[in-house]
Amino acid sequence: MEKKDLDWANLSFEYQPTDYSYVSNYRDGAWDDGALTADHSIRLSECAGILHYCQEVFEGLKAYTTESGDVVCFRPDQNAHRMADSARRIVMPPFPEDRFVDAVEKVVRANAAWVPPFGSGATLYIRPLMVATGDVIGVKPADEYQFRILVTPVGAYYKGGVKPVKVQVSQYDRAAPHGTGNIKAGLNYAMSLYPSVEAHAAGYADNMFLDPETRTYVEESGGANFLFVDKDGNLVVPQSATDSILPSITRRSLVDVAESYLGMKVIQRQVRFDEIDQFVECGMCGTAAVISPVGEVDAADKQVVYGMDHVGPVMQRLRETLTGIQSGEIEDRFGWVHKIDVE
Ligand code: PLP
Ligand code: COI
Repeated sequence: MEKKDLDWANLSFEYQPTDYSYVSNYRDGAWDDGALTADHSIRLSECAGILHYCQEVFEGLKAYTTESGDVVCFRPDQNAHRMADSARRIVMPPFPEDRFVDAVEKVVRANAAWVPPFGSGATLYIRPLMVATGDVIGVKPADEYQFRILVTPVGAYYKGGVKPVKVQVSQYDRAAPHGTGNIKAGLNYAMSLYPSVEAHAAGYADNMFLDPETRTYVEESGGANFLFVDKDGNLVVPQSATDSILPSITRRSLVDVAESYLGMKVIQRQVRFDEIDQFVECGMCGTAAVISPVGEVDAADKQVVYGMDHVGPVMQRLRETLTGIQSGEIEDRFGWVHKIDVE
């Protein structure tokens, strides 16, 4: 199979349509069989639930080419599971988890020519989404839905890749305490757009959101979870008392990488913003972000500098180990790498 003629090494994190998407519709209480489609648009009633009461959830994962030429993706079962959790929280019918993984395989196989080659630094970003297509006018869940998966080749999410970025502490919250911050629903991202545009305009890669109840603890950024390294070399992972952090699959994998591959101690706890100057490294992690080192955190009355020159040694090792597992260069001890037969 011949690859598309793209400048793989210089892709940005932008959408470009590929050959196929996957689509399945929910009607009369059941999901249909689902199929690939070359139509990348959705036709909706003006009264569709998504347009009024924002019933939408999504996921993000990536397909890679390994060193040996296989096409793989990373822990798709975890995305299937989180999407089902997200759906239930806003009263949408979960797409069956085994069918989710099967649909990911189908759509990646159909777009194999778009999977970036090994070593290019690019990946095929896979974006499953689900929207309420049924009509609603009173405030209630719709009774018809569409599940889709689009794929698009991408480069680094935070410009600079492994070069440290700056973040600012937001004056706004991205989620409510005990609200929907722990699910992957578009409504959380709508909340984060105003502060995100503000942060970018001021030269920051993203926001650091503090806990929405007390504005005391570190939560996450607009598109990734935070990680810190303390003076003793331990990985410190912020937890939320208000359940408003998205349970990042990358972060949970890095906890296992740190413990099992690197022999590090991992401390998962609430992290006060006023203690982050005690740490020696900071990073943001997520599917899109992978691990992006944070060189500086700015708040109205405080500036914390970890160093803008280069990625710290622990973040570097975590990143190399995770990406090494994903690309097949490091042993996959936990069976995370999911091969897709593309023949
Ligand atoms: N936090 C937010 C708000 C995100 O959008 C993402 C991306 O999915 C993450 C964290 C990282 O999650 P994951 O590692 O599962 O991609
Ligand atoms: C991902 O990492 O997959 C996400 O969905 C984050 C998004 C902000 C691009």
